[in-house]
Amino acid sequence: MRDRFGREITYMRISVTDACNLHCRYCSPLPENEAGALPRKETVPAPAKSIPESAAGQNALLSPGEIREVSAAAVSLGITRFRLTGGEPLLRADLAEIIRGIRGIPGVEAIGVTTNGLLLAGRVRDLADAGMQAVNISLDTLDPDTFHRITGNDGEGLADILAGIRESLAVPGLKVHLNCVPQPGINSRDLVRLAALTLDHSLSVRFIEMMPIGCGRRAAGFDNRELLERLSREYPGITRDMDEQGSGPALYYRIPGAEGTIGLISAMHGKYCSTCNRIRMMADGRLKGCLSYDSELSVQQALQLESTDARRSALTRVLRQAILGKPEGHCFERPDDVTETACMIQIGG
Ligand code: 5AD
Repeated sequence: MRDRFGREITYMRISVTDACNLHCRYCSPLPENEAGALPRKETVPAPAKSIPESAAGQNALLSPGEIREVSAAAVSLGITRFRLTGGEPLLRADLAEIIRGIRGIPGVEAIGVTTNGLLLAGRVRDLADAGMQAVNISLDTLDPDTFHRITGNDGEGLADILAGIRESLAVPGLKVHLNCVPQPGINSRDLVRLAALTLDHSLSVRFIEMMPIGCGRRAAGFDNRELLERLSREYPGITRDMDEQGSGPALYYRIPGAEGTIGLISAMHGKYCSTCNRIRMMADGRLKGCLSYDSELSVQQALQLESTDARRSALTRVLRQAILGKPEGHCFERPDDVTETACMIQIGG
């Protein structure tokens, strides 16, 4: 369906857990003394590989059946593409079941997963067999020390992620994207190296501008326009690639002769809200129409209803409300107007 600004909403991001096994400096909540007076949920590290409930410990996570019901209601409103996010979605042992549930809904065209890649090796085939058509792996650096500095993980994790990437590339037809958030003085020297991965690998390396959410508020970001200049100096002839088209706002480029593409997601310096096609559901069932604003809508009440029909119509109603409540655009350029107090780990990016 269309929202109040005529945008066709066809894409939904579903966070399946707010727990994560990495603690990236820009993705976590702000420390208590910097979070202001607004209430904020605490996210604690996940000790185990699979977790029964939200890291915040307040709401049980939605079951695969509940996620399927929400997705089916979304499909009835014209949403055809889904992405499962976290926290870290692979912390859920039932992720393949969640994917299978969504894939079984008539009308679903695409299902992707966004992961930090730590637990990917050994599970890619299973997830792809379940219906995962695309995997986005967050990777800010190829250097173990920088990796440690950004994620808090000892250097070992990086090798696991790279194994997961290799395994993903070996699955025929699986789309592989690497997501990097450029951070001046931290991973600046990695950016060209990461971009160079596209020379010999059939994947897309995407650079996401830092957004002022949670700890991202005080983390310095990079202007993608400068990054493009830098990449152009390094790789003369780099040009827009109009063939590569995802569900999102990335503009794609290709180094001449490269196998893969480079994507720029410029939330700050290339505001793309006029083409925003998405809504989000957080792990606790809250629905979000825009990253920068808080939301009180949730699927929880609808899911409590007894009859399948009543649940279906209540879910459709609350999703429609979320779509109609989408603001015209984000307000990241005015950080004080951002009412969202959750951070990316809870929202799912
Ligand atoms: N700004 C921009 N991107 C972020 N991500 C997490 N936090 C932020 C932030 N503050 C990215 C992650 C992941 C994607 C889902 O969102 O790196 O790749």
